[in-house]
Amino acid sequence: MAATDIARQAGEGCRTVPLAGHVGFDSLPDQLVNQSVSQGFCFNILCVGETGLGKSTLMDTLFNTKFEGEPATHTQPGVQLQSNTYDLQESNVGLKLTIVSTVGFGDQINKEDSYRPIVEFIDAQFEAYLQEELKIRRLLHNYHDSRIHACLYFIAPTGHSLKSLDLVTMKKLDSKVNVIPIIAKSDAISKSELTKFKIKITSELVSNGVQIYQFPTDDEAVAEINGTMNAHLPFAVIGSTEELKIGNKMVKARQYPWGTVQVENEAHCDFVKLREMLIRVNMEDLREQTHSRHYELYRRCKLEEMGFKDTDPDSKPFSLQETYEAKRNEFLGELQKKEEEMRQMFVQRVKEKEAELKEAEKELHEKFDRLKKLHQDEKKKLEDKKKSLDDEVNAFKQRKTAAELLQSQGSQAGGSQTLKRDKEKKNFF
Ligand code: GTP
Ligand code: MG
Repeated sequence: MAATDIARQAGEGCRTVPLAGHVGFDSLPDQLVNQSVSQGFCFNILCVGETGLGKSTLMDTLFNTKFEGEPATHTQPGVQLQSNTYDLQESNVGLKLTIVSTVGFGDQINKEDSYRPIVEFIDAQFEAYLQEELKIRRLLHNYHDSRIHACLYFIAPTGHSLKSLDLVTMKKLDSKVNVIPIIAKSDAISKSELTKFKIKITSELVSNGVQIYQFPTDDEAVAEINGTMNAHLPFAVIGSTEELKIGNKMVKARQYPWGTVQVENEAHCDFVKLREMLIRVNMEDLREQTHSRHYELYRRCKLEEMGFKDTDPDSKPFSLQETYEAKRNEFLGELQKKEEEMRQMFVQRVKEKEAELKEAEKELHEKFDRLKKLHQDEKKKLEDKKKSLDDEVNAFKQRKTAAELLQSQGSQAGGSQTLKRDKEKKNFF
């Protein structure tokens, strides 16, 4: 085979050939759009923030609707996550929106583990997707993807600096999800304080190595706007579903005794910037980053944990079959080792038990011998005692016989004298 053919077969050296007429594959982008529109989209937002920081209000404001949800109490024993999914429709585009909100975040005295339920929730969504991917019959096209695409981290408008809880939580989340920090209820900070607060937050995030989501600047179409917006992070937002008439327009605003703050007024807050960046410009990038960066990392770690590798120790490609075989052999080896260990342990235990039994038997024998000797001694003592008693009885008997003899002799002598006295009495009368 000629070298050029081999190169062509390998896909190298592709030649550009002109088309003589219209073929029709220029409709591919339209086909893709149509397919996506008919399938619908899904977007999942995670709102992390202390109780009452305005998470629900901001979601209602962002999507211009009233989602369900009750305010949480400050008495939760731990952090929980509440997830709600809604079907939204705008023009002919359907969006399955999932809003996950923390409940009880920042309310415990010991906040050491507050980040854990959030991390576990994010991982659980990755795991569900991975399990679906690993199935033989995958249904990914109509699978409800619950992976979190954007995490809005609500920072309290203290004007000071980030709390340790914020830093720890964002650090734990940054490799798992696109973290977008926002200053909540920013109407509580003055303009000059806000500028300083933003700088302070940014420098604290950098010095603690927290990687927040950066709006992408590699696509020419959005590079400029995204670049500008990156400089405005973290966005200072205000939420409100209340509509007020300003001039001759109804606008979302919050009214105070001293004035009105308009949510969609860029001079008042960054709400419009957030909506623009999150929904109108970068929603697809957030979805893409979730899949190609965060999920990929989770998947890689999980598969490596399970023993899958792409290359062998000599950097040669390792097929799935080889990995399976290697893993199976490793498993069988381990099983054999375990079996051998158990057998050894069993033999050892039997030996120990045998030794114990022998020892017990020996002790029993010794005890038996001791008792036997004791019994013999006792028997001998009793025999001696019996003998001495027999001797005593014999001696007593002898003494008794002698005494009886003496007594009978004595009585005989006494009897003949009485007879003689009786005769003398008779003769006298
Ligand atoms: P939980 O779900 O209970 O944790 O609360 P949440 O974070 O969802 O807060 P929610 O949206 O229920 O708002 C709590 C209170 O803060 C309500 O009284 C809101 O009106 C008010 N609030 C919401 N957003 C803002 C804001 O931007 N500025 C001010 N000043 N108040 C706000
Ligand atoms: Mg809420």
